[in-house]
Amino acid sequence: MENVNEFIALHQERFGAKPALFRAPGRVNLIGEHTDYAEGFVFPAAIDLTTTVAITPRTDGQAVLYSANFEKEARVDLATLPSRGTGQWEDYPLGVLAMLRQAGIEVPAFSLSITGNVPLGAGLSSSASIEVATALALLHLTGKSWSGPEIAKLCQKAENHYVGAPVGIMDQFVSACGAEDHALLLDCRSLEYHLAPLPHEVEFVLINTMVKHAHADGAYKIRRAEVAEGTDILHQENPGIHALRDATLQDLEQVKSRMSDNVYRRCRHIISEDDRTVEAAAALDAGNLKKFGSLLVAAHASYRDDFEASCPEADILVELALERPECIGARLTGGGFGGCTLNLVPSKEAPAFAEALKKRYKEKTSIDADIYRCRASAGAHALNVK
Ligand code: GLA
Repeated sequence: MENVNEFIALHQERFGAKPALFRAPGRVNLIGEHTDYAEGFVFPAAIDLTTTVAITPRTDGQAVLYSANFEKEARVDLATLPSRGTGQWEDYPLGVLAMLRQAGIEVPAFSLSITGNVPLGAGLSSSASIEVATALALLHLTGKSWSGPEIAKLCQKAENHYVGAPVGIMDQFVSACGAEDHALLLDCRSLEYHLAPLPHEVEFVLINTMVKHAHADGAYKIRRAEVAEGTDILHQENPGIHALRDATLQDLEQVKSRMSDNVYRRCRHIISEDDRTVEAAAALDAGNLKKFGSLLVAAHASYRDDFEASCPEADILVELALERPECIGARLTGGGFGGCTLNLVPSKEAPAFAEALKKRYKEKTSIDADIYRCRASAGAHALNVK
């Protein structure tokens, strides 16, 4: 439901009161994949695909959730809120509620409606946008105001402990703290961040492979386990290494013989990706788009070959993109194993590029790709509607 007034009317009709509204964006990660839980750097931007929630208080001790996208309602008694999710859509908002309560915040009974246009399972962080929008709404109800980084940490916990997906902090952080026309370079260890202005002459064209992924399922968890195994071996050799953020490629070479080839290559991806991320942010700051684009391409190769988190469809899309001279850089973005490719293209040429890629992808795979031409947008905020 794209129209805010219709969404307000829907909530009011269902729950009998005029709601307060909150919005949080999805994100595109420009570079830095699987570096967040290695305490390294990521460089995402909030986008103008968003989740909006409407909230009103209740008096019956219940939390009632309505998804306008799924046209489904879920209802729980606050007194008997489960301590873990049940694998349903409502796990994301209920996880935020559970973590707020765990933090000692008494949340009164409420009705919450949710609507959004972040595609699900497309690597654009629909779940983080639901969590962050819900957090703003529930905090509003309690009269408290938390900082963006605090909200991000709460929502990451909801996803880790309630939903059961072992994700890092990136998605929730940029959804909470992103800024219009800026990408956000985040140090995932200190949570210090820098907002980097994005050049106006280029656009991010996101092409959905239409291959879906979910982080609570196998592949992401397996990668995390492989990375943990590699980190342990590095730590045994060099106690100063607590996370891959602390290791160099040289450190890795020294312990190569003690690791499986898979674990070695997973670590090589993260250590090299961390360097590429810092370099890419500096290249963008310096206005060097050519260098920035070439780092995106190198990141894709590393994600595909070392981390093995790409999929054939994404590789085809990246290959097709790089055949076109106007494409400055292309890579699979997000957690991997499906989702969207990010393509950096001069704005003037973006419509023709998008059309050509859609056609060529269909010819090669018979898949009809959805394409999103996104702008870097504001982080989470209240919506003031008259
Ligand atoms: C998902 C997770 C993030 C991050 C990326 C990979 O989006 O939610 O925490 O690990 O994958 O970069």
